Amino acid sequence: MMLSVIFAIFVCLIVYIYRSMKPPPPRICGVAHGPPVTSPRIRLSDGRYIAYRESGVDKANANYKIIVVHGFNSSKDMEFPISKDLIEELGIYFLFFDRAGYGESDPHPSRTVKSQAYDIQELADKLKIGPKFYVLGVSLGGYSIYSCLKYIPHRLAGAALVVPFVSYWWTKVPQDMLSKALELMPKEDQWTFRVAHYVPWLLYWWLTQKLFPSKSMVSGNVALCSDRDLVIIKKQLENPNPAMEKVRQQGDHESLHRDMIAGFATWEFDPTELENPFPNGEGTVHIWQGVEDRIIPREINQYISKKLPWIKYHEVVGYGHLINAEEQKCEDIIKALLV
Ligand SMILES: *[C@@H]1O[C@H](CO)[C@@H](O)[C@H](O)[C@H]1NC(C)=O
Repeated sequence: MMLSVIFAIFVCLIVYIYRSMKPPPPRICGVAHGPPVTSPRIRLSDGRYIAYRESGVDKANANYKIIVVHGFNSSKDMEFPISKDLIEELGIYFLFFDRAGYGESDPHPSRTVKSQAYDIQELADKLKIGPKFYVLGVSLGGYSIYSCLKYIPHRLAGAALVVPFVSYWWTKVPQDMLSKALELMPKEDQWTFRVAHYVPWLLYWWLTQKLFPSKSMVSGNVALCSDRDLVIIKKQLENPNPAMEKVRQQGDHESLHRDMIAGFATWEFDPTELENPFPNGEGTVHIWQGVEDRIIPREINQYISKKLPWIKYHEVVGYGHLINAEEQKCEDIIKALLV
């Protein structure tokens, strides 16, 4: 009798643990009970759909084609304001897309840093934008740009990393520098990043449990915002972009959690070992960092750009993390990349 009660409790406990660890299934776009498909999409060779948005001049008449990669909790409808005049003057075609699991792009449960470059390459080829294109990644989307520099350098005309993501588990950046940078983050975020790196299968549980504080960056901690970032966030709250409601419609796990897991996983390469894709100066690579950015540790991006002198490093005084919401900065970024 006693034994069977203990056994029953044990079974219930296992079921409870299992259920709280297991993320709900994704709500796939365009299938029964899933969100509708409202954007153009291409189909990748593995069957997944990628949703995209084109802007700027017509691609047939463009002088420059730029693929823009959004960051964490964002999508192809992200901000990247550039004046019409500059777009026309330079002849720029922009291609935005939802990264796997975000917006209307299918989830990719085994997505990695590496798979990003190939998603981008296939998107470019399906849309026939030509043998070479520019890539520009913002924040967590920076890992996609490192991926392009590593795996498809021959396809690039130039690259920009805007307030790019830093992994605390890169192997060739001095460990003490990485640990110091990590310790500057709020405690909750440190633990969330560690869970994403060491026990990614626990991340869903970690971010949904209520015993320990786990959400800070993930739920918009103001301590991580510079004064300028706060002004931008206030503006965005007053005038929200309705398209942004679709960012996480397939589930937080497919979009946000898997993005973090991919970024913080062990990489197959270290950014400091990248080779210059433009040894003859046919193109340029840039890192943009806000001096007051409290999300991305400046020292690490400084270190990478010192190790890789072919990367042009730009530090912008007075700016925080949300550089891509400001037209003046976006135009500086584009001009440095193209002109
Ligand atoms: C994602 O962004 C939306 C605003 O677009 C915000 O309401 C939400 O809290 C954010 N979620 C996370 C997990 O960062």
